[in-house]
Amino acid sequence: MSDPLLRYRAEFPILERTNYMISNSLGAMPRGVYDALHSYADTWATRGVRAWEERWWMLSVEVGNELGTLMNAPAGSVSVHQNVTTCQAVVASCFDFSGKRNKIVYSDLNFPSVMYFWEAQRPYGARVQMVKTDDGIHVPTDRLLDAIDEQTLIVPVSHVIFRSAYINDARAIIEKAHRVGAHVILDTFQSLGTVPVDVTALNVDFACGGVLKWLCGGPGVAYLYVRPDLGTNLEPKLTGWFAHKDSMAFETGPIRYTDPPFRFMNGTTHIPSLEACRPGLKIIREVGVDNIREKSKRQTARLIQLADQHGWRINTPRDPERRGGTVSIDMPDSQQVSRNLLAREVLVDWRPRAGVRFSPHFYNTDQEVDAAIAAVEEILKERRVAV
Ligand SMILES: Cc1ncc(COP(=O)(O)O)c(C=O)c1O
Repeated sequence: MSDPLLRYRAEFPILERTNYMISNSLGAMPRGVYDALHSYADTWATRGVRAWEERWWMLSVEVGNELGTLMNAPAGSVSVHQNVTTCQAVVASCFDFSGKRNKIVYSDLNFPSVMYFWEAQRPYGARVQMVKTDDGIHVPTDRLLDAIDEQTLIVPVSHVIFRSAYINDARAIIEKAHRVGAHVILDTFQSLGTVPVDVTALNVDFACGGVLKWLCGGPGVAYLYVRPDLGTNLEPKLTGWFAHKDSMAFETGPIRYTDPPFRFMNGTTHIPSLEACRPGLKIIREVGVDNIREKSKRQTARLIQLADQHGWRINTPRDPERRGGTVSIDMPDSQQVSRNLLAREVLVDWRPRAGVRFSPHFYNTDQEVDAAIAAVEEILKERRVAV
């Protein structure tokens, strides 16, 4: 079967040497990053401090808008940060936990860093309620909805669960939250770039994620979407001179906030990472998330079918509509198997209560999917012989 997305393979040098099945952790580096970073160094070397005015100051806005295009966010509504944890902190700093509405509702399948951050807000008055999973794959939507009540302030929730790739019912969660006056921070780290995200259609309050996984943008850049009507009113207390109405006036005393996206930023921006992420974002825009999703459903279905043939435990939804880009397979000795796969140039990772995570992306061939599972088969055979 011809696969038009494979024409992008040549853009990713690591695909020549490895079976790259780990885009849920670190997307493959586009060849264009060499030029982007070289040009960054040239600009610094030749333009010196003038680079700020000529390019660097507005770079964060440009990258924010490029990310916004991918999630149907209006221009100017996406600010950039270093990581998702910081994005959560910026949002938290817009709210006050001393009143009656001070409850944070999240699930135990959120990414741990997000939990650690919210748990640490208890001394400031946040009441944190963790809604628990039974099966390690999902938290029933009704259970989450029941926990969201009139005293709920914020619901930080993953769009796609990192352990299982379960797609949460974001629409239902946002609707319930809004009905009772709460806000949702949708963590789209494991969706944007592989599962369509439309922040405007969802009417979500905040969305955040990073670019280093499915967006092939490398470490160091995260994004924060703030719904425009909130964006012009909220006042983040985690702030700094980039958020000032007149940064270059260097006024003393309290901040006078500028408009989004700078309003949600704080100190000097991370220019090298912003430069490095652009080639990946460009490719993802060209390929199109709908095309990526289509292919991902096919290849993840194939992974499940092959794992089933061996009777291995699947910790990922079987329903393609509820499944993101990863298949977590808990075969016997899964942690050791994942190490052996790495040694054989099949790049995957292993997570407790998930197993080995296989994440084909638009640049992977169907043969690579089959080869990854064949490699597991061989490893298990060798281990049985050795024991
Ligand atoms: C859903 C999700 N949220 C957040 C993170 C990471 O958070 P941070 O950007 O703060 O390191 C990850 C993985 O790295 C993730 O899978």
